[in-house]
Amino acid sequence: MMEYSFPRYLLSKQSVDDRALNKDVFLALKNKLPPEPIRIIEVGAGIGTMLRRLIRWGVIRKAEYILVDGMADNVEYASEWIPAWAGESGFSVERSGTHQISLTGVDINIHVRLVAADVFDFIQTNKTPADVLIAHAFLDLLPMPDSLTKLLTLTKNLAWLTLNFDGVTTFEPVIDEELDTLIESRYHSTMDTRPSGGSSRSGRQMFTHVQAVHADILAAGSSDWVVYPADGCYPEDEKYFLEFILHFVEGSVWTCPQLTAERLQHWLDVRRTQIARGELTYIAHQLDFLLGMRR
Ligand SMILES: C[S@@+](CC[C@H](N)C(=O)[O-])C[C@H]1O[C@@H](n2cnc3c(N)ncnc32)[C@H](O)[C@@H]1O
Repeated sequence: MMEYSFPRYLLSKQSVDDRALNKDVFLALKNKLPPEPIRIIEVGAGIGTMLRRLIRWGVIRKAEYILVDGMADNVEYASEWIPAWAGESGFSVERSGTHQISLTGVDINIHVRLVAADVFDFIQTNKTPADVLIAHAFLDLLPMPDSLTKLLTLTKNLAWLTLNFDGVTTFEPVIDEELDTLIESRYHSTMDTRPSGGSSRSGRQMFTHVQAVHADILAAGSSDWVVYPADGCYPEDEKYFLEFILHFVEGSVWTCPQLTAERLQHWLDVRRTQIARGELTYIAHQLDFLLGMRR
């Protein structure tokens, strides 16, 4: 029986996201960063994988990095996981309480603060805006454009808004054109009807939403997830990532006379067999943005 763990899903997503992130938008971010030390606020930060990526990719060396996530379990996981990988990477790690972690190393001095809070509550209490706001795989869960307006109050300079889902989910090979299309459209409508907000076309809608805020698009581009086997194997923990995506589909798509429980189960069984055999390819279209706040 497969165990589904959200932190493990976020861990398994790292290599998929590393490939997906739009490198032109990323370069624009690097080129626009103000002199260090910089203050970064990441919202919907999960367990902190973006912090690790930005250190590994040499983007931040001297920084205050605030991670905000609404799920206390994610923040607890982050409070153990960040010191663990930082220690393995040769940094000296100092903690004050459970939610403040200092990482020091050669030319590295990063102070991390973990905040377990709904981001809209955090916005009410945050006193100092960041140089860079990061929202990674997060904005497509929120009601727009109101959330964007509120989130941008957290930055005085840049906003790097990445992996905004944009209306295409594809599984290859095709099982049955009609059934695949039906499940894809049902899956997308669950994103459009979540009580907490969100959209299956949040990527393209960002171009319109940005017109309503005090910011300019400095760079934009696609950041599709493309997960495929090589010689029948998936790299890193991407097999688990695919299992988790099917788990999302199974948990969110509701049945109807056209899509009976039997038809959905048949589709899931075939897809799971394709993963086990290293035959499944999965593509999700997403868009990245770098915004610059107008002064
Ligand atoms: C898809 S996950 C992405 C996590 C992380 N950015 C990553 O890619 O590894 C979305 C995250 O947003 C958090 N979240 C959702 N709504 C939130 C809210 N209103 N305030 C703060 N965090 C929220 C969830 O707990 C979850 O960790």
